[in-house]
Amino acid sequence: MNENEKRLLTAVEERIQSFQQKAEADPYRLTYHLMPTIGLLNDPNGLSFFNGRYHFFYQWNPLEESHGAKFWGHYSSEDLTAWRHEPIALVPSEWYERNGCYSGSAVVSDDHLYLFYTGNVKNDSGERETYQCLAVSEDGVHFEKKGPIITLPEGFTAHFRDPKVWKRGATWHMVIGAQTLEGCGAVVLYTSDDLYHWTYRGIIAGAGRSGLGDFGYMWECPDLLEFEEGDVLLISPQGIEPEEDRYQNLFQSGYMMGSLDVDSSRFSHGDFSELDKGFDFYAPQTMTDEAGRRILVAWMGMTDSQEPYHPTLDYRWIHALTIPRELELKDGVLLQRPVKELKKLRAGAFKVRSKKLLAGERWDFDGMGVESKELILNILEAGSFSIRIRNEAEIHYDCQKGRVTLTRHRLDDGSVERRRVDVSHVHQLHLFLDHSSLELFLNDGEHVFTARYFPDVSDDSIVLLPKQNVMFSVEAYSLTSTLNVHS
Ligand code: FRU
Repeated sequence: MNENEKRLLTAVEERIQSFQQKAEADPYRLTYHLMPTIGLLNDPNGLSFFNGRYHFFYQWNPLEESHGAKFWGHYSSEDLTAWRHEPIALVPSEWYERNGCYSGSAVVSDDHLYLFYTGNVKNDSGERETYQCLAVSEDGVHFEKKGPIITLPEGFTAHFRDPKVWKRGATWHMVIGAQTLEGCGAVVLYTSDDLYHWTYRGIIAGAGRSGLGDFGYMWECPDLLEFEEGDVLLISPQGIEPEEDRYQNLFQSGYMMGSLDVDSSRFSHGDFSELDKGFDFYAPQTMTDEAGRRILVAWMGMTDSQEPYHPTLDYRWIHALTIPRELELKDGVLLQRPVKELKKLRAGAFKVRSKKLLAGERWDFDGMGVESKELILNILEAGSFSIRIRNEAEIHYDCQKGRVTLTRHRLDDGSVERRRVDVSHVHQLHLFLDHSSLELFLNDGEHVFTARYFPDVSDDSIVLLPKQNVMFSVEAYSLTSTLNVHS
């Protein structure tokens, strides 16, 4: 370990000593979502399965509660529910990463775990530089840095980052998020036989190409997923204007279905669809596990104007990851469902086989008294209704218009803000609530709303308010924590 790394790790250790207790005392701390001990977390990185454990790394600034020179934090788990907090995997200690070990991915080869990430540098003249770097581990916990393996090719600004590597046939492939010199977001492709030497293959997709038109000035965090039905490209584009109910957040995350032709370096694709309709979802990444499942995790946050108003900042931490979701591609639509392992978190259960409510009645869903809950509501006879959660968030289903709306209060001025989606019908709402987050899965993963919310901490009310007659069944569970926050 060099002196710089030692100095940075000591600074982190001191900060954890000073502030960990404070962070843990925050009533908005989550119970089953991955969070930073202290400081700021953003993107999930390096999702992988190695030596019998899932490894989830994450962008972490442990030295401040704001964005800055990122480290790679690290959690591991055998079953996606009981998590161990591992030592820091990457420290921004070298010249080629001095302003952050930015996002990237992991692959397993020859019994080693390979991390690919972006070395972010602001040089002495204040200009950005970018290096795609490699670090290798034998035990999945300690990493040896190999330095830059790719430098910036011609035709791009230094907004060139977030390498995602996967194997297709016998060849390693890497997609990187980029900005062209013309100021358009793009995804480029590299290939390699040995993970160390990479050949540039060109832009596979981008704003202003393939009928996309004006589609953002930068595409972050690309991911290429192969399904039997075809390929799917995930991107997190920046600079897209709102359009009716779409693109309401500052930045978007979504996917395009298509087909990657490596020889011509082209991803021919259809339209872009958002992955999540809520307020806080960005920079998703996926992995394939031993069972062949495609698992997605995202940052449950956003660098928008509300970020500085998060109440958790007073407790010296901010942001979390979403729960892991299994993806299925069905008729061109990516369905997201909570991974089945989350059932292990279920403690007390509460079930109502069928309940009829008349318009104007209310049903107070109480008797469980915890903020960490899972709720499955099956609609047996449809009608419009609202679910008011802890008097802070509200889900509204308008049965006539075929529309689901989520509202909450803004953190800066307290006004109500909404996100919505049009649906042909709703037959199921599957809700994961944690102390300050909610994830709503509609119709078995057809649409998802992800949001942070900050209710009065003593309020654990959930009220169902029918606008029309409605019949439903309920299954609810209190959820336990299996997070080992720091080791
Ligand atoms: C996405 C992102 C990535 C970058 C990382 C830095 O949220 O901006 O493009 O690598 O965060 O933390």
